[in-house]
Amino acid sequence: MAELGTGHTESGSMPRGEELLRLMVEATSPTTGEEFFHALVRNLARIIGVKYAFITECLDQPPTRLRMLAFWAGDGFRDPREYELRATPCEAVINEARECHYPARVSELFPKEQALGVDSYRGIPILGSRDHRVIGHLAFLDPRRMPEHDIGWALARVFAVRAGAELERLHAEERARSHLEQLARLSRATALGAMGAALAHELNQPLSSLANYARACRRMLADGRADSTDVREALERIAVNAERAGAIVRNLREFLARRAPERRAVAVNDAVRDAARIAAPGAREARVRLRLMLEEGLPPVLADGVQVQQVVLNLVANGMDAMRDAAPSRREIAITTARRDAATIAITVRDQGPGLNEEARRRLFEPFFTTKKSGLGMGLCICKSIAEAGGGRLEALEGEGPGAAFCLALPVFHG
Ligand SMILES: Nc1ncnc2c1ncn2[C@@H]1O[C@H](COP(=O)(O)OP(=O)(O)O)[C@@H](O)[C@H]1O
Ligand SMILES: [Mg+2]
Repeated sequence: MAELGTGHTESGSMPRGEELLRLMVEATSPTTGEEFFHALVRNLARIIGVKYAFITECLDQPPTRLRMLAFWAGDGFRDPREYELRATPCEAVINEARECHYPARVSELFPKEQALGVDSYRGIPILGSRDHRVIGHLAFLDPRRMPEHDIGWALARVFAVRAGAELERLHAEERARSHLEQLARLSRATALGAMGAALAHELNQPLSSLANYARACRRMLADGRADSTDVREALERIAVNAERAGAIVRNLREFLARRAPERRAVAVNDAVRDAARIAAPGAREARVRLRLMLEEGLPPVLADGVQVQQVVLNLVANGMDAMRDAAPSRREIAITTARRDAATIAITVRDQGPGLNEEARRRLFEPFFTTKKSGLGMGLCICKSIAEAGGGRLEALEGEGPGAAFCLALPVFHG
């Protein structure tokens, strides 16, 4: 990251206005988010010649609490913290939406600030672009009287506007992300919903054998012919089945949980096997064979494992729907993994249904496009946005074989 070479400043050694602006723009323009806020407070502190500089965002409206986004303390960054606005010099900046300057005696006026041992304070509000409400502020503190560095303060005002835009951009991104997370969750629930009955059945099996073995133990004990080997064996079976039921529930809970996507190295074949395991009971009930053709030795991909499973599950669910009227001998879904090129791994889900007609091909990924009586039409559109948000792609393959084929392409992980 670019850094200003001014060191700890005396106003005499200060670069001139244009030079300052150039340095400042260089230091902050290629950065976003946290990196931007860090570059901003550090460089403004150096330009203006103060020891401390930090930037905050308001946590509520009307504001009572602030969260620091970056805190420069002269020789390094401090851990940013949250604090109550009341009885701090920041109060007037935020509540009155105006620049505030306490040239001296800050520690006396605001005992809360004593710990920093500062004497002077200056705060600049950061306004939201739509309603001009205060959404945060820039604060500068120093153990001595603050330099009257006009160009420096003018720069700080300009960058308060840029910081406001960055804050709003982050909030919009956060909203979009949580929206996508909600959609993703909905689609996981939908994918499972289609297979719910079969899953309940899957769970029922270990539970009823639990009950059977427990009953057998009770009988043996009641008869007084409890052979310790028999009882031990029955208890062993109970433990195994309880663990199996627990694993099924855990798996489902993880799959359905509200969670932020985590992109990391994922073994594609494992993700596909996990998805197939979740889909298996439903496939069995629909008399659909799931055939896995997994290429050995694939490198990991960069993705969220649960989301990969989710996309595969949705494609499998669509394939099963498409083969509802197919002859039993044709009911097969093939899931293939293969290296497509140096940077991409492809997961293909192919069914033997009627395939995609021209309209479906055009409108597949439109929200609410469905040809099913009880369809929602959200599955593919959500899967596509999940795939693309994670740097991958989802597409329907053209004219291959009788059924439909969908391909999820994921970027190879480079550790
Ligand atoms: N494997 C497939 N074979 C044939 N048509 C499909 C297939 N997958 C999706 N489609 C078509 O795309 C539509 C949208 O699919 P989707 O977004 O998953 O919503 P839904 O499954 O709720 O209808 C389906 O209604 C169907 O017409
Ligand atoms: Mg669907």
